[in-house]
Amino acid sequence: MVGVIGDPVDHTASPAMHNAAFKDLGLDYIYVAFRVGNAELSEAVKGMRALNMAGMNVTVPHKKAVMAYLDVISPEARAIGAVNTIVNKDGKLIGHNTDAFGFTKSVDLEGTFKEWPQTVVLLGAGGAARAVLFALLQRPEVERIHLINRTLVRGELLANEMDSEGRVYTGSMSDSEWAEVGLLINSTSVGLFPDVTSLPLRDASVIRPDMLVVDIIYKPLQTQLMLKAGECGATAMNGLGMLVWQGVRAFELWTGVIPRSEIMISAALENMK
Ligand code: ATR
Repeated sequence: MVGVIGDPVDHTASPAMHNAAFKDLGLDYIYVAFRVGNAELSEAVKGMRALNMAGMNVTVPHKKAVMAYLDVISPEARAIGAVNTIVNKDGKLIGHNTDAFGFTKSVDLEGTFKEWPQTVVLLGAGGAARAVLFALLQRPEVERIHLINRTLVRGELLANEMDSEGRVYTGSMSDSEWAEVGLLINSTSVGLFPDVTSLPLRDASVIRPDMLVVDIIYKPLQTQLMLKAGECGATAMNGLGMLVWQGVRAFELWTGVIPRSEIMISAALENMK
């Protein structure tokens, strides 16, 4: 048995995605969603050990707190400061983070550029931003990352924590700096259902046709930001790919088998209907 712990988990697409892939491969696994509040987190992890579950996904609000209850944390999860996947290896619980992989893989596949651009704007500095920023810092082609957040100090703290090479900038951006941007990513919750008409940018005129705009939101599948990007002639993609590819990697960590991503994509889409 594998599953996800979080609060809320009612609308998660992960059970549908993983169970479809288990069925596709004829693997004798089942994926279940467990709503676990903060006060029950340590008990839930103990329960996972006691029941000898193969693994678990961890979602909001436990990705950071769960680290205290695990035996080993992977270097990537340590650097991101969050665990989204636990593997039970003969009773030893290992914490991984597959969100950065999911982000990179989805942009590599759906993105329109041959090479990652030198200049990137990342909107947001919360939990989701951490994995995206880590992924961006792994790309040697990316020289400048402008981190823009409503609460400036939170952005500065994140930049100081994760960037040792001076590649992340948190100051305001000039028009000429905007003109250099090849990739714009929204990792804030602005635009997320039911807030579907909100835009995480004050001024959408900074979007140019040669930009790739990535919204890591997948509910709705087309956000206001993506709509504006389309109007400006830019290519836009949503966060469904990131969701699916973080799941592909978690599945592989649990079973040793790589699932068919197209099975997981259609199961996730079907579930969202
Ligand atoms: P998550 O785990 O989904 O990233 P989070 O850690 O609460 O959630 O982070 C939410 C992000 O969205 C933050 O960057 C937050 O900005 P603040 O750091 O200023 O709170 C951003 N965000 C949420 N609501 C916002 C709004 N109405 N306008 C601008 N930014 C917003």
